[in-house]
Amino acid sequence: MKVIYFAGGCFWGVEHFFKGVDGVVKTTPGYANGSLESPSYEQVYTDTTGHAETVKVEYNPEKVSLQQLTRLFFAIIDPESLNRQGHDEGTRYRSGIFYADEADLPAIKEVFDLVPGKVVTELEPLRCFFPAEEYHADYLDKNPGGYCHLSLKTFRYLRLYQDLKLVLEGEIDPITRMAQISAYIQERMGFFWTGFYRVSLSSRETPSLSSRAESRDLELLLGPFQGPPACMRIKYGRGVCGSAWKEKRTLVVPDVEEFPGHIACSAESRSEIVVPVIRGGKVTAVLDIDSKEIGTFDRTDAAFLEMIVEDCA
Ligand code: SME
Repeated sequence: MKVIYFAGGCFWGVEHFFKGVDGVVKTTPGYANGSLESPSYEQVYTDTTGHAETVKVEYNPEKVSLQQLTRLFFAIIDPESLNRQGHDEGTRYRSGIFYADEADLPAIKEVFDLVPGKVVTELEPLRCFFPAEEYHADYLDKNPGGYCHLSLKTFRYLRLYQDLKLVLEGEIDPITRMAQISAYIQERMGFFWTGFYRVSLSSRETPSLSSRAESRDLELLLGPFQGPPACMRIKYGRGVCGSAWKEKRTLVVPDVEEFPGHIACSAESRSEIVVPVIRGGKVTAVLDIDSKEIGTFDRTDAAFLEMIVEDCA
């Protein structure tokens, strides 16, 4: 058994989230890295003791890696937010990863160093940890509907991601995987359109097998999807999909009308997210999701969909 400590704002939601992660054996909410011995909630609440609301996560490393846990942690917090997560403000709600074993640092840094933006999340050795009062443990199980700063979709995405990994285990055909991923996302998350475009040869003729494709010979071709009929071919650098391919990064578009060159397959689509599938440094496909509402997608969607694309597509 191994242990890692995550501070991600109010520990009620963070504990509830990590309890649901396959491979996590035990979670304990508490107060870490402050100055007072065995502080009470009321003392920590004054925001003068230096403790951060923290969840001790004990896990089986054969079932879930520290990198994986760190990725999940970054999917549920805003690492650019200083001393604030959701509506909760104060140093006790700062975000941080506290390790008890120095040997864990490289694995955490593998993920930490790739997090985009101006990251203010602490990465420090654990100096102290005091379990919180009993009523804080399993708080959201004891109080369903109680306060939680994490959005409902955070928990939905976790289920979706873990279920997809299980259902796709052993399936090697990429089209089959993409078909199943599209259906799962669409059904669980209720979006308007979910599907893949694959980087393929643009020629409608079958090329001679000896000729190697140049990037100008490639375009995105409609792949497995769920939703209304869609555009079949998208050129490199065109639309949101072609731009995500070109820029090799996830694009979140809160309002499609504000995105120059957006390709409207349906007039009903109002916001969009496109996540590239990258294999061996090359984009092989993109996952495209459309919503009928403005501003549907944020960094939570981006983080979970990137994990789904990386581990499942
Ligand atoms: N809107 C996309 C085209 C694909 S459809 O949304 C399914 C784009 O601009 O690339």
